[in-house]
Amino acid sequence: MENSNNHILPLRTYLTIGGILLGLTIITVVVAQFDFGRWNIVIALAVASSKAILVALYFMHLKYDNKIYMVIFVSSIAFLAIFISFTMMDTLFRGEINEIRNQPVNQYAVIYDQEGKPIPMEDRVGLFDKPEEIIQEKVPFEITHGFGPIKEEIKVGPLDTVMALEGKEMFKMKCGTCHKLDERYTGPPLRGVTVYRSPTFIMNQILDPQQNVTKHPDMQALFAQYYTMMTFQNVTVEEARKIVEYLRYEATRSPNQ
Ligand code: HEC
Repeated sequence: MENSNNHILPLRTYLTIGGILLGLTIITVVVAQFDFGRWNIVIALAVASSKAILVALYFMHLKYDNKIYMVIFVSSIAFLAIFISFTMMDTLFRGEINEIRNQPVNQYAVIYDQEGKPIPMEDRVGLFDKPEEIIQEKVPFEITHGFGPIKEEIKVGPLDTVMALEGKEMFKMKCGTCHKLDERYTGPPLRGVTVYRSPTFIMNQILDPQQNVTKHPDMQALFAQYYTMMTFQNVTVEEARKIVEYLRYEATRSPNQ
């Protein structure tokens, strides 16, 4: 009868498994040279879990031990998978609750006037259905240009590519942790943001995200989709202006350029 306490495997088995593990490591290194897009993670995890399973089965003798250990091991992995996948069902689809980005979705959110006083509801009814000129005239500065330290519209000229390149570096360092250009990340994708947000608005969002996100209705709606509040990244006014230039530059390019 097999005694699980001192089961001895032939050296050949260890060497074979060791060889397979080395082979899988080589596969990991080779595969890393190519970009398989969304399959990258699937391949990497498949190789890694095959290795882990081999180690558990042979080197840790799970295969030869009392089968109760196998049951415990497999069921704990199964439960982990269940917990993670249920969490994913929530986090992956949160953003789909409200896809409208550009409109003040929450028309009943508090809107403040230039003095920082809330605009009474009766002055706002139907405001956003009126023609553009009336909106421009009636809508407070902050609705078009954001809440923040910049209180006068920043006018921009033709694209300044030198400035844009400096902005690109800043963007990589200070914004790339949360924003991508074409994909939803911690924050919304930013290619084309200059089409629907004024340069002043973007600068105010960069310079005082806390204020703009809590006061501006569009940002309140975005916050409700992203569940994270953008934070101030220690950016100066000049740097913010350069980042805007970079975003203007990216708005003219297509995703795969
Ligand atoms: C901590 C993560 C984080 C960082 C860092 C960050 N952002 Fe954001 N950003 C967000 C989130 C989240 C939102 C959506 C509003 C909210 O919830 O705060 C947002 C919103 C924005 C918006 C408004 C987009 C729209 O559709 O109106 C702009 C513009 C923006 N960010 C630019 C930047 C720039 C430029 C930087 C770098 C200086 C930056 N962000 C750094 C998380 C971040």
